[in-house]
Amino acid sequence: MRRRWKRRRSSRIVVAVALSLGLLVPLGWLWAGSLVPGSFSVMGMGHPDYGGGTRDPSHDMHAAGWDGPPPAPGDVPVTALTGPRSGDPDVDVTVVARSEMISLAPGATVEGLTLNHTSPGPTIRARQGDLVQVRLVNESVERGTTLHWHGVDLPNAEDGVAGITQDAVPPGGEHVYRFVAEDPGTYWYHSHQASHIQVREGLFGVLVVEPPTVASGLDVVAAVHTYPGGRRTVDGTAGEKRVPAAPGTPVRVRVVNTDNGPLRTQVAGAPFRVLAVDGRDIDDPGEVTRRSVQVPAGGRADLGLVTPADGSAVRVELGVGGDTALVVGPDGAPGPDPTEPDGELDLLAYGSPAQLGFDPTAADRRFEYSIGRRPGFVDGVPGYHWSINGRLYPDMPMFMVAEGDVVTVTVDNHSGELHPMHLHGHHAVVLSRNGEPASGSPRWVDSLDVAPGETYEIAFVADNPGVWMFHCHHLEHAAEGLVTHLAYRGFTTPFLIGGPAGNEPE
Ligand code: C2O
Ligand code: CU
Repeated sequence: MRRRWKRRRSSRIVVAVALSLGLLVPLGWLWAGSLVPGSFSVMGMGHPDYGGGTRDPSHDMHAAGWDGPPPAPGDVPVTALTGPRSGDPDVDVTVVARSEMISLAPGATVEGLTLNHTSPGPTIRARQGDLVQVRLVNESVERGTTLHWHGVDLPNAEDGVAGITQDAVPPGGEHVYRFVAEDPGTYWYHSHQASHIQVREGLFGVLVVEPPTVASGLDVVAAVHTYPGGRRTVDGTAGEKRVPAAPGTPVRVRVVNTDNGPLRTQVAGAPFRVLAVDGRDIDDPGEVTRRSVQVPAGGRADLGLVTPADGSAVRVELGVGGDTALVVGPDGAPGPDPTEPDGELDLLAYGSPAQLGFDPTAADRRFEYSIGRRPGFVDGVPGYHWSINGRLYPDMPMFMVAEGDVVTVTVDNHSGELHPMHLHGHHAVVLSRNGEPASGSPRWVDSLDVAPGETYEIAFVADNPGVWMFHCHHLEHAAEGLVTHLAYRGFTTPFLIGGPAGNEPE
């Protein structure tokens, strides 16, 4: 009796041990497999996705593991993809990055990061075709820093991403960016080293590229930012910022959303037009009244309005219902009270259709970018993590293209949270939302809000070789692993994530 009991007990132990091993071994395996080395090449990161390409790359760049592939003969390092290295710049700016107190009007200070002692840093204005040179000097940003030119489709080596296109600039170091400002529009620049911290702490500024002939009237920037501690500002001013303007003045307001969440903006006190989105003009933008416009994190919208002839002021609300606003009008003129808009302007059906310049129905590659969440390990940390096409960081898809490809990407979001998706180095046109084709002006974006449950189809021409990030611009999400890359056949980066420079792009 007793022996039988004993035997039963030991077999129970065996079963229990087997069960826990059966659980622990795969878990341990998953855990170990999720560990990210301290130093690696993005060329070895993730899972190559050729998008069913009709012109497949001749070799699999990922075959060699974390170090990336051994350079194939003829491979071009991204460091060769620079802007013009010679020639006198038309715009020549030096910005010095420092870790110090930021003074925000009216009278508040916050600890953060500055460029030339201010945050936002200097607004850089160039004319289309100008050669722009920006010398970044890091005086005291301890983790190192870079400048990424958000929305500017420039040569890859000037893209400012630590660990992909350069090493983070250490304290005492400097880096020179040189590029031709080819496309007029509203852009911004920000650190792409520990960006989820450094951008929030103030390391950013605005870049405006003006067309060859500048329209009459006022041209103002409205960079919206929330500093640590939650202080919401426009151009470093908390609350309302006044812009003096005579009655009847045409005004272009360049709204830049430098935060992690969407910005609902609207104009009270005058009708307005959305002249451009993400640095690309809208064709035939109609006048609208009492409509809100959603600007994704990282995105820009240029609003056109005329100050009323009766001498009253116009209020550009930067966050409907909030107190951050630009009040444009004669000195002391009362602005209208904040109002609830009648609804949101749908940019998918705004303006008039126009030629795209390429045929997305004849795509060479079609990618899926399906954003979800699932349990698992990321770098050894168990959790409910962001996934792309079912994969967790760093095993994310690497979208592989060849120069000249026409590419479509279907982005869908079943993660339960909104994601502002940002593609470096390219503008993509929105083809459809939830299967409904775009009917307005072509909407070219570099930053696109994809709400939970939404599916967007976008298209672009792969005409800017290199290795480009394609990530969520809720920078906390990016730091949590919502990051992929677009890589061109025959190009490779010599830089490392981690490595001696401590590169940490997100
Ligand atoms: Cu505005 Cu990858 O960034
Ligand atoms: Cu996100």
